[in-house]
This record gives sequence, C-alpha cells and structure tokens, in this order.
Amino acid sequence: MYTTLLTTTDNGIFTITINRPDKLNALNKTVIDELSAAIYEVYTNPSIKSAIITGSGAKAFVAGADISGFVSLDGRGGQALAQTGQDLVFSKIENSPKPIIAAVNGFALGGGCELAMACHFRLCSENAKFGQPEVNLGLVPGYGGTQRLTQLIGKGKAMELMMTGNMIDANEAKQLGLVNYITTAETLLDKTKELLQVINSKAPVAIKNVIALTNIAAYGGSNGLQKEIQAFGELFDTKDAKEGAAAFLEKRKANFTGE
Ligand code: COA
Repeated sequence: MYTTLLTTTDNGIFTITINRPDKLNALNKTVIDELSAAIYEVYTNPSIKSAIITGSGAKAFVAGADISGFVSLDGRGGQALAQTGQDLVFSKIENSPKPIIAAVNGFALGGGCELAMACHFRLCSENAKFGQPEVNLGLVPGYGGTQRLTQLIGKGKAMELMMTGNMIDANEAKQLGLVNYITTAETLLDKTKELLQVINSKAPVAIKNVIALTNIAAYGGSNGLQKEIQAFGELFDTKDAKEGAAAFLEKRKANFTGE
C-alpha cells in the first residue's frame, strides 16, 4: 500500500517504519504524503491504540528533509513545503489523540529530529545522533524545530544546537531531556512496545486528555489550569472513569472501552 513506509500492527500498536535506507530515510514528498496517510490511520482505525515511528536500517532514523528537492525551491515553494509538512504530519502527530512515540534508531537530523520531537516522547538506541544542521544549508528548521527543541531542552542549548549545527549523541540527548530512554539497537522496539503496552492498558479517554492538556502547557497556552479543571470534571461522565473507580473498589483489573 505504501511505497516508502512499512507498517505493521501488533497488539494494538501500529509501527510505522520509514523505509528509504539508501537515502538514510530522508523525507521527500512521497514520505510526507504517506506519513500523513499513516497518521490518518492512527486517528481513524479503532484497532490501533498507539503508534511508533522508526526508521529502516541500522544507520538512520531520518537524516532530514530530502535535500535534493531543495534545489528547485523558491520562497513560495519553501513556505508551502513547511506549511504542508507541519499541517499534514508534524502537528497531526503532536495533537494525535492516541500516543505516537519515536523509536530513534540512528541519525535524527533536521526534519528527522523534528519528526522525533513532534512525537509524544522519544526513546533511542545507543548509536543515535540528533541535530538541527539547517544553518549549514543557509536555512532554519521548518517542521517545528525552533519551537519544539526550545520546549524540550531549553532556550540556551536549543540556540547552541541550531546555531552550530552540531550533533549530540544519545547520552547527551538523554541528559538534556530530548529522549527518555537509551537502549541497545536490538531492544529499541521491544522497549518502546513495552511502554506502549502499559499506556494501552489505561483509559483511552484519559490518555487523550493528558496529550491535549500537556500540549497546552508546552505552548504556554492560556487557561491551562482551567482547561484541566474542565477535563477532570468531564471525565467523570465517561464510562472509563466509572469503570476505573469500580475496578479499584472491586479489586479487579479495569476493562476500559474508550467511552
Ligand atoms: N537528503 C537527501 N539525501 C540524503 C540526506 C538528505 N537529508 N541525507 C543523506 N542522504 C543520502 C546521501 O546523499 C547518500 O546518497 P548517495 O549514496 O546516493 O550519495 C546516502 O543518503 C548516504 O548518505 P552519506 O552522506 O553517504 O552517509 P554518511 O554516513 O557519509 O553521512 C550524514 C551521514 C547523516 C552525516 C550525512 O548523510 C548528512 O549530513 N546528511 C544530511 C543531513 C542534513 O543536513 N539534514 C538536514 C536537512 S534540512
């Protein structure tokens, strides 16, 4: 069905693997279009509870936007590229009501680092390298990097990485809070799935609200506390919240339906 992605579903976990290993999984128009379609599947397919984004091959998660497509771009085309990518893929990932986690298996540069940062959180293998090298091309990040890198690691370090274009390794990425866990290359997907199994056992209506409310905080949105009060209240009217309390009191495992 897809030409640049491999997808599998295992126990409610949808794994999206960007599959252009000979080009270090660089994001060309086809990859962006197909990622958009795959994210739409996450939103709409009831058998998908959560998703993983990873890269094919041992070397790269995604080594950035496909630079070969830059040669013919003018200002209007560049703006359209960033707008389309952000609207159809990066913002859709960030605002997905179901968890989407990045399993970073190698280079995550430019658009690759931005793709990982659009995900709800990140794990990486020991060989992972992160960077925003757009300055080397006379550019800035266009898929949300200036905003999300600053949110995740703070202004000073984000400025340094985007001004120098330097790469950081897995250990530094973990120290900075860019990734939550470092694993071996062999165990990266298993560890990611293990965390998602825990999340998938919780109430989907609660998870959806955790994502939405945390995103409000990340962007310094106004009224975050008030929206939390509202969501907290609304959740009491859901079947999942009634089931959660009943299961606790009856000393049994909750059976959440997402209603
Ligand atoms: N766009 C298009 N092609 C890319 C690419 C990108 N962002 N990143 C890597 N490739 C291609 C290379 O051109 C090469 O293709 P070829 O074999 O047809 O020549 C192939 O992927 C392998 O990459 P190569 O550079 O030979 O691997 P390396 O191990 O020597 O270096 C990197 C790895 C990641 C350091 C290097 O590929 C790189 O700097 N890539 C660009 C990163 C970047 O600037 N990204 C931000 C874009 S905004």
